[in-house]
Amino acid sequence: MRIILVGAPGAGKGTQAEAIKAKYPIAHVSTGDILRANVKAGTELGKNAKNYMDAGKLVPDEVIIAMVESRLQEPDCKEGFMLDGFPRTTPQAEALDKMLEKLGIVLDAVVYLDVDDEVVVKRLTTRRGCKACGEIYNTVFKPTKKEGVCDKCGGEVVQRDDDKEEVIRKRLSVFHEQTAPLIDYYKKQALLATVDASGGKDAVLRLLEQRKAG
Ligand code: AP5
Repeated sequence: MRIILVGAPGAGKGTQAEAIKAKYPIAHVSTGDILRANVKAGTELGKNAKNYMDAGKLVPDEVIIAMVESRLQEPDCKEGFMLDGFPRTTPQAEALDKMLEKLGIVLDAVVYLDVDDEVVVKRLTTRRGCKACGEIYNTVFKPTKKEGVCDKCGGEVVQRDDDKEEVIRKRLSVFHEQTAPLIDYYKKQALLATVDASGGKDAVLRLLEQRKAG
C-alpha cells in the first residue's frame, strides 16, 4: 500500500497513521518527525529547519524534497509507505510525481483529512507528545494516566514548540494558502478520497478496508 495523508495541522495525520500501522506493516514517513529528529540531534538540517518550524512556516521545498527522495529509497519503504505531511506545496507534489516515476512506484490513494480550523486549534493547544517514544496524547481527548508521564514508556510528555496558539494559526494560514491546492491536484489525478477527520481516530483505516473489500 502506498498512500499520502493530506490535512491541516492537527487534522490527525499522525493519529490516523498509528491506526493504519497497527494493521498494515508499512513505513510511516512523516516529514515533521524527520525534521524534529534532526532538531533534537542538532544536525545542520535541524538547525536550519528549526527557525521555520517555530515560526509556523514551511521549510524550503528543495530541502524537503531531497530528504524524502532519500527516505523513500530505504528498505522499509519497499513493501509500502504512507507519506504524512508531504507533499505540502505544488512544487513538492510535482517533484514527488517525478520521484515515483523514476522509482517505478504507483500511488494507491491520497486521503484528505477534512477538519474545521477551530477543531484544530482546540486539538493542538491541548496536544502533548512523549519525548522518548513519540506517542501522541491530548489533555482533553487522550490524557496520560499520570500527568507528564508516557503511559507506554514512562518518558517525559511535553508540548511541541509550535503548538502555541499564534503559531497554530500561522500554520493554518500556510495550509490554506500552500497545501490546500493539492486537493484539486490529486482530484485531477483521480487519487483523492476525503475523510471527515472530526470522526474516529481510525477513519482512514476504515476507508482503506472498505476500498480493499471492494
Ligand atoms: P508536522 O509535524 O507535519 O505538523 P502538522 O502538519 O502541522 O501536523 P501535526 O503533526 O501538528 O498534526 P497531525 O495532523 O499529525 O495531528 P495529530 O495526529 O498529532 O510539521 C511540523 C512543521 O515541520 C511544519 O510546520 C513545517 O515547518 C515543517 N514541515 C513538515 N513537513 C514539511 C514539508 N513537507 N514541507 C515544508 N515544511 C515541512 O493530532 C493532533 C491532536 O488531535 C492530538 O492531540 C490527537 O490526540 C488529537 N486527535 C487527532 N485525531 C483526533 C480525533 N479523531 N478525535 C479527537 N482527537 C483527535
